[in-house]
Amino acid sequence: MMADSALRHVVLSDGADLDGFRRAVRALASARVSPDAVVFMTGAAPDLFGDSFAADAPPVALPKGVGALIASVVCHRDPERYALLYRLVFRVLNGERALLEVPSDPLVHRLDLMARTIRRDLHKMHAFLRFRRVAGEEGERFVAWFEPDHFILEATAQFFIDRFRSLDWTILTPVGSMRWDRLSLVYGPPAAREDAPAGDRFEEGWRDYYESTFNPARVNPKAMRAEMPKKYWRNMPEAASITALIREAPGRMAGMIDREATMPAKRKPERALEAMWDQEPKTLAALNAVIAAAGPLVPGATQAVPGEGPVGAALAFVGEQPGDQEDLQGRPFVGPAGQLLSRALREAGIDREAAYLTNAVKHFKFEERGKRRIHAKPTAGEVKHYRPFLMKELALVRPRLVVALGATALLALSGKALPVTKVRGPLRLDDYDGYVTVHPSYLLRIPDEAEKRRAYAAFVDDLSRINAMVA
Ligand code: URA
Repeated sequence: MMADSALRHVVLSDGADLDGFRRAVRALASARVSPDAVVFMTGAAPDLFGDSFAADAPPVALPKGVGALIASVVCHRDPERYALLYRLVFRVLNGERALLEVPSDPLVHRLDLMARTIRRDLHKMHAFLRFRRVAGEEGERFVAWFEPDHFILEATAQFFIDRFRSLDWTILTPVGSMRWDRLSLVYGPPAAREDAPAGDRFEEGWRDYYESTFNPARVNPKAMRAEMPKKYWRNMPEAASITALIREAPGRMAGMIDREATMPAKRKPERALEAMWDQEPKTLAALNAVIAAAGPLVPGATQAVPGEGPVGAALAFVGEQPGDQEDLQGRPFVGPAGQLLSRALREAGIDREAAYLTNAVKHFKFEERGKRRIHAKPTAGEVKHYRPFLMKELALVRPRLVVALGATALLALSGKALPVTKVRGPLRLDDYDGYVTVHPSYLLRIPDEAEKRRAYAAFVDDLSRINAMVA
């Protein structure tokens, strides 16, 4: 069959119109239209400028690599992208099936470079996009502003859904926006920087994290700017620290060398896991940013629930995991068990505000029953996964006494599955003076009222003893 050489006009949507391009390719390829006879346009009114194509043209069978290359290159801003891609498709379908294996071919070379540029742009967006927390009438939402170089919004969607599935988030860019409401994704119009919130309380956490993981020995401003171009700095809270950190790097290096000469290496089992953090967080805010960024081990939680209370608190109370209310509010011990704990602390003369309250596991794990989210006990493996976070947290708070509330906290702190009833009372917990008692939710579950009152009184007695131990 001869190639059809009548001039065709293909009008595609602005941005990366992968579906439109695929439809056009099917129709053009089935009519064997030569690439020299096609003009691709974007954003024009299709009915005025475009030719109509048969909607039922059969799919074209392309090698896998060609399909992947198309999906990538359509994201490029180059106005010639569709014409170049159609030229590739035409050649592949007309005797050059292994064309992609010829990297020296000028067309293949150019398309490869374009795909590489897109990969880099995707990487930048994955790495440098920062959400800001916004409190609204429907609850909390997270909004980010980002300026990609190319039309990559849709290509990044799955990455952000996988990472932040349990959050309600919106990404705004000058080429379009997308909103994930925990169930579905909706694309919206382009946005302006002013549409995004300016800052939130997480900023400090990111900044602290960056400062505490910044390694002055590795500082290379040129490489840093190449990897993290300045245009992204405006949206990244931690970037506010970059200039000062670079300036201070030589002095900090000298300090590091001095310290290395005098500090013996400390060996602890959790060191291996902590190595994952590259450099250990040096503040609670930095640690909490790491925990939040790590995400839940079991999908579902709305957010990580960090510990709460002052550094240097005499008492640290460790619970099991956040419950439904804690998960929604992002604070520990605010639900029914937390309210019972507050009451018992008050009766024992302990100021809740002066104590540090946290959990062994940092994310809510639950089973859905209808509309209710029912607490599901963390496994020993999950407790172990979160242990380095808990131990780092305690090392930063430096309490004089650590209280294990229930069996999960006891497992996390001692590394052993011990029955609370057998060891209730003072007990050494890892490097800390400790005290083991029941979890307040155990008291809530006792069905017999008289028994419940007795158990509650014993719990308040424990708390009074604990108070006396740090008086
Ligand atoms: N139970 C816990 O162990 N921790 C909380 O924060 C709430 C309930």
